[in-house]
Order: sequence, then structure tokens, then C-alpha cells
Amino acid sequence: MAPLLLLLLALSSLTAALPAEPAPLALGVYYEALCPDSRDFVVDQLNTTYSRVPEIITPILVPWGKASVDADGVISCQHGDEECWGNRLLACVADAVSAEAVRVGVISCLMDKQRSLHRDGPACVAAAGLDWEAQTGCAAGDQSYQQALQFGQQTDALEPALTFVPTITLDGSQGSADQQEALFTDLLNTVCAEWQSRYGQTPDGCL
Ligand SMILES: *[C@@H]1O[C@H](CO)[C@@H](O)[C@H](O)[C@H]1NC(C)=O
Repeated sequence: MAPLLLLLLALSSLTAALPAEPAPLALGVYYEALCPDSRDFVVDQLNTTYSRVPEIITPILVPWGKASVDADGVISCQHGDEECWGNRLLACVADAVSAEAVRVGVISCLMDKQRSLHRDGPACVAAAGLDWEAQTGCAAGDQSYQQALQFGQQTDALEPALTFVPTITLDGSQGSADQQEALFTDLLNTVCAEWQSRYGQTPDGCL
């Protein structure tokens, strides 16, 4: 056999034996703009965990929760029309930001101000380099309506079905009731433990 081919074969068997390259855990967050439990999770769990270990999680934010859509395509939200608007605003803002750290920061700021979005939202989006008028325009537009319907489908596809907001998934799974509770109340230690068990490494930001 040609020496080059032998070398290639040797290299490929070598790479096959190496452990999988660590990939960030996909953290699905099925939440709602005006839901206090969603506020607590995003601000006190997601934001703090992300600031410590951004390298091990990729947040996937799905603002819909217990909303529904009727046969005429009209969306109703658990906490009323104001929440439907808030959900679409959250989606617009998340889309408008390209840096993940900035996205987590601005979404946390908006969730922290969920009771005074019209008054305090502009400062949150300005701090992320965005224009409030543009974002509220987006929230009233057809594109964010279509995106909301997609979030609805994504939420409806959850198994088991969503009963509590927020519902959290790790690489697509809610885990057992205990695991779901651990994600909700102790996200940092839960993702750190998952990382440790998968890759045998403890990231610096873990406790
Ligand atoms: C989110 O975390 C960042 C970085 O630690 C912090 O500066 C910011 O104040 C936090 N946001 C909220 C709403 O607590």
C-alpha cells in the first residue's frame, strides 16, 4: 500500500479513538414574557449560570408557554394580550442580537422588567445596541407572528406535554420530574454535573 494511504489510515483510527469533542449542551427554555416563574428562572438561573459557564450551554429561547392559536390564527396568551406582545418582543430582540452573551443579557433584563416593560424595556434594548422602535415594530409585524406560530408548534411538540412554565430541556429532554426540578432550581450545578459525567472535566466556572 502507498505510504500516504497507510498514514491516512493510521490517522483516522487515531481520531476515532479520541473522546468526542465537547459540544455545548442545548438548553431549551420554554417560557412566557409575563410569567413570574419564567422571570425567576431566566434572571436567577439562566443568566447567572451563563455568566459563569457560557462555554458549556447554548440557550434556545422559546417564548410561548401556554399560549394557543385558534382556527382563525388568533393567538391567546396565558397572561393576556400584553403577554402575546411581550413574547413577540422577546423573540424579535433575541433574533436581532448576534452575540449569545449579549442575547442572554438583554433577555434577562427584559424578563427582570416584565412588570414595567413599556417603561424599562427601552433601556434594556438600548444597552444591547438595539432600537426600541425597531423592536416594537418587529413585535407588531407578520414575521414575528409567523415565528410565534413556530414557537407554538415547537412547544406543542414537547414530550411530555408542557404543564409548567418555564419548562427546561437539556439536549431536547426534560428528564425525570426530579431532573426537571434540578434544572429549574439549580441550573449551574445540574449542567456542571452533566458536563462532568459526559466529558470528565469540570469547567472553571462550576462550583
Ligand atoms: C445578567 O448577568 C450579567 C453578568 O453577570 C449582569 O451584569 C446582569 O446584571 C445580569 N442581569 C440581570 C437582569 O440580573
